[in-house]
Amino acid sequence: MPHLPAMTAAALLANLAIPIIQAPMLGASGPAMALAVTQAGGMGSLAAGALAPEEIAQQIAALKAATDRPFGVNLLITRPATPDPAMVSEALERLAPWYDRLGIGLPESPNDYAPDFDAQFAALLAAAPPLASFTFDVLTRDQVVALQAAGTLVVGTATTVAEAHAWAAIGVDAICAQGSEAGGHRGEFLRPGPESLIGTMALVATIRPVVAAPVIAAGGIMDGRGVAAALSLGAAAAQMGTAFLLAEEATISEPWRRRIETVPDDATAVTRAFTGRNARGIENEFMQTFRAVEGEVPAYPVQNRLTRELRVVAGRLGDSETLSLWAGQGVSLTRKGRAADLVRAWWHEACEVSALLHYRTHGPDPDNS
Ligand SMILES: Cc1cc2nc3c(=O)[nH]c(=O)nc-3n(C[C@H](O)[C@H](O)[C@H](O)COP(=O)(O)O)c2cc1C
Repeated sequence: MPHLPAMTAAALLANLAIPIIQAPMLGASGPAMALAVTQAGGMGSLAAGALAPEEIAQQIAALKAATDRPFGVNLLITRPATPDPAMVSEALERLAPWYDRLGIGLPESPNDYAPDFDAQFAALLAAAPPLASFTFDVLTRDQVVALQAAGTLVVGTATTVAEAHAWAAIGVDAICAQGSEAGGHRGEFLRPGPESLIGTMALVATIRPVVAAPVIAAGGIMDGRGVAAALSLGAAAAQMGTAFLLAEEATISEPWRRRIETVPDDATAVTRAFTGRNARGIENEFMQTFRAVEGEVPAYPVQNRLTRELRVVAGRLGDSETLSLWAGQGVSLTRKGRAADLVRAWWHEACEVSALLHYRTHGPDPDNS
């Protein structure tokens, strides 16, 4: 007998000891980080976008066995791709110098381009995690209802107010408002990328009053000041990705880690060159070279699949100029440490900022003066 979610998303987020959500980060975060953040009192997220259905089932079961606290699982809503073979050949030709540079042959045209989303969704539904979040598109109302009936709260990613309305219209439990500062892939699905680049401050403040569902702020939140700012804007929680990239539990490659540690200011840009979908990362030679023609690369998931091996080998060989270095605009503020310690430190800072604001507004507490 299916059961309804034990509590609303608003109650779940309000009950977190620390209202910080570790963003799901494909290629950068695994179950260890999700568990560490969850056990520290925040909410961890499993990035399941590249997992096979069996892995999704197994990783959710393992997290459920390890903790009674809520955690999230994230999928990328992806339609099956059947690209024109001529387009694939052309895209591979464009990548040939990059494969050459690493001393590996150009891959054959692939037979499949992305995991089967419907199979992933079925596995997620059956495993019934406390919360599931989605990006790149919107679910159907039936899918939302099915998840809720299984006891899973549903979060949809929105980069504009219109996208927040689209999620709200199908009864989603919470909206993740992804501002333009955010690292990694952008979630836009209604308007082209450049028209969906709204800063987190404006996005949260404009979505908050027009949807009933609680809003989670994401993008550029790097420390306790950012967490306090997100809550001040009316967000129910702050979702942080880039801030976890140097955590001990992060699974990024060495060259990626080194670039984050030595990053100059204003180092990131949005590109579709690596995957055919807009994503923010530290600018490198690959992004610069493709800048003029990036509009011509095949749409996600095709380009993503065609560059996959290139990026894996570049990571192994230490070539950070050929690697996707996903990171958000606040990347220079990234700190090292254990994920649990980072979360606790940020919350401590957020509480201090809040006390400072209180002092600024009300003056000294007469009992303590
Ligand atoms: C390396 C990396 C990988 C990401 N992978 C995912 C993902 O798999 N699914 C998703 O919904 N968002 C993903 N994101 C975006 C985050 O959910 C979030 O929107 C973003 O990290 C927030 O901005 P910030 O990086 O400035 O904290 C990723 C972000 C980064 C930095």
